[in-house]
Amino acid sequence: MRAIAGVVFWTAVMTGAAVAAGTGGVTYENRVQGILADYCLSCHGSDAPTMEAFKKDQEGFKKAGKGPRMDTYSHLMVMVTGSDTGALMRRLDDGKAAQDGKPGNMYAYLGKTAGERSENLRVIKEWVGGWTLKRKKDISQEELKAIKAAER
Ligand code: HEC
Repeated sequence: MRAIAGVVFWTAVMTGAAVAAGTGGVTYENRVQGILADYCLSCHGSDAPTMEAFKKDQEGFKKAGKGPRMDTYSHLMVMVTGSDTGALMRRLDDGKAAQDGKPGNMYAYLGKTAGERSENLRVIKEWVGGWTLKRKKDISQEELKAIKAAER
């Protein structure tokens, strides 16, 4: 009896762990937030403009070295599946998914070495799931659904 109860309990624990980890296991909270804190928030932190404010004075903020804030999950998601769908992917792609083969202009910030940049991109790609550079007006419902980008 005790052995069976033990097995049932253990199965429940393992199933719970698998569900909590999601598909690839990468979440905003366990990996992505840390990468952004290390390499992006100096220019995209809480003192940076919201996307709405940024769009109103893009040139001014660019001169000031500030991009739209991405210091919370919801601010970040504006550039993943929100009003600026795909912006995060377009700016971070290493050129492999781009038609012109050029990396996005924020890829250079993704790490101190080429190895670190490609590893951080791998983590962010795993987090996003369906990696696409498409804009909101061009993206299909299926492509949108393939973007996972779990918070936790
Ligand atoms: C030294 C400052 C700086 C750092 C560090 C930086 N960015 Fe930026 N970022 C900017 C500025 C300024 C803009 C706006 C100008 C432009 O569009 O290139 C911008 C624009 C962007 C945009 C486009 C926003 C939009 O929708 O128009 C994304 C996405 C982005 N950055 C992501 C990142 C990520 C991710 C990192 C970290 C790997 C990062 N940036 C690091 C300064 C920075």
